Amino acid sequence: MSASREHFSSRIGFILAAAGSAVGIGNLVGFPVNAAKNGGGAFLLMYALFVFLICLPVMIAEMAVGRNTAKEPVGAFKTLSKGSKLWGAAGFLGVLTPFMIAVFYMVITVWLFGYIALTITGHLDYLASSAGFGEFINSPYLYVALVAVAGIVSFILAAGVKDGIEKAAKILMPALLGMLIVMVLFVLSLDNAMAGVTFFLVPDINKITPSVINGALSQAFFSLSLGMGILITYGSYINKQTNIPNSAKLVAITDTSVAFIAGLMILPAVFSFNPEVNPSELSDSSVSLIFTFLPKIFLALQTSLGYVGASAVAAFFFLLVFFAAITSLVSIIEVPVSYLVTEKKHSRKKALGYLTLTAGVLTLFATASFGMVPFFTEFTSYAGGTKSLFDVIYDVFYDTILPLNGFLLCIFVSYRWKKKQLSEELSIGNENYKGSWVEKYINFSLGTFIPVIVLLIFINTVATKFF
Ligand code: PHE
Repeated sequence: MSASREHFSSRIGFILAAAGSAVGIGNLVGFPVNAAKNGGGAFLLMYALFVFLICLPVMIAEMAVGRNTAKEPVGAFKTLSKGSKLWGAAGFLGVLTPFMIAVFYMVITVWLFGYIALTITGHLDYLASSAGFGEFINSPYLYVALVAVAGIVSFILAAGVKDGIEKAAKILMPALLGMLIVMVLFVLSLDNAMAGVTFFLVPDINKITPSVINGALSQAFFSLSLGMGILITYGSYINKQTNIPNSAKLVAITDTSVAFIAGLMILPAVFSFNPEVNPSELSDSSVSLIFTFLPKIFLALQTSLGYVGASAVAAFFFLLVFFAAITSLVSIIEVPVSYLVTEKKHSRKKALGYLTLTAGVLTLFATASFGMVPFFTEFTSYAGGTKSLFDVIYDVFYDTILPLNGFLLCIFVSYRWKKKQLSEELSIGNENYKGSWVEKYINFSLGTFIPVIVLLIFINTVATKFF
């Protein structure tokens, strides 16, 4: 282990940073919408089972690989496979994927920044108008927002692991939780809020279909920031006293609770806005919900709160989602940063400079792929449709490579690094681990049904998305 490798200062710092990565737009908007559309309480139960039975072992394995090697994915896979080129390539996918997902996530974060700026300057009515979003995504001001977002993320990362990532999480995460609770209490006090709570929580088993199950698992996987090398990298910054299974469990509980609480915020708000709401109006994509539907909901509050009050609530909400997005972006860019620092021996500042620049340019192209530049808007076509650059990044990296990375990790840990080594690592800082049912479950599941299920998702996605 290199003596100079930075570390999180405490276990709680690590847990907050990992939870900061996990809690993001997916929890605050994606989860509530999916749950409401796909069976309410039944979806929730299924989701929770996936988180704990399938995702948690993968999360624990990623953290163990990181701590054992004190390296990011490429270095970790190379070290544990004794220099295998093939596994090194698998590790490289674990660095490329977060970089590309960062681009797609950054486009949305830039929009959030724009929404905050527009609501506090009194333009909520514009955002709620039917032309609003369509015009907004083609506004040249987005490039100013892009510079601001890239600046904030680089500023945090430049300060390093302890003084940047950990400190940001220690400030932003409690702020986010506090804001979330204030927002839920406020929304629950609105007229007709209970209809939304009912819609969210009452189980409807008939709605659970194979595609819903597939969607729930993918959502859980993404929500916990798996398959992107993030937890390998964060794991490389923890010390040997940390009990990994327990820490991972806390991260999963936090992430799932935030998703659940977000459901108690979003759906009552939707129902209060329109008691006759038809669930099918909730679009499939959480992205269009935040950007097209929510401004209308906030604007409707002006009858009771006045325009300024409604704008303040909207700005508060977008700020909440923005905080969540920033801590996720920080975690995802840290992976390639760590790769350039550990494997390519660049200084942290230089690595950050290169990455911010390349990610910034790609984000600029992806932002322009919503109509501004035809070349990026009609980038390519497959599965019978024209796809923008943004669509391609989303389909290839988020939808397809992510489960593949999960599969490779399970196979790597179980059959190349070997379960015995995994058990050794996990029993450090955790004397009762060996022989426990947790150990047996982790070892068994990672080597058998988890990779099979994740591989099936991968095959299904490839078959449906690209052919
Ligand atoms: N887990 C985050 C969410 O649910 C998403 C995320 C993606 C985080 C990529 C880090 C990296 O929104």
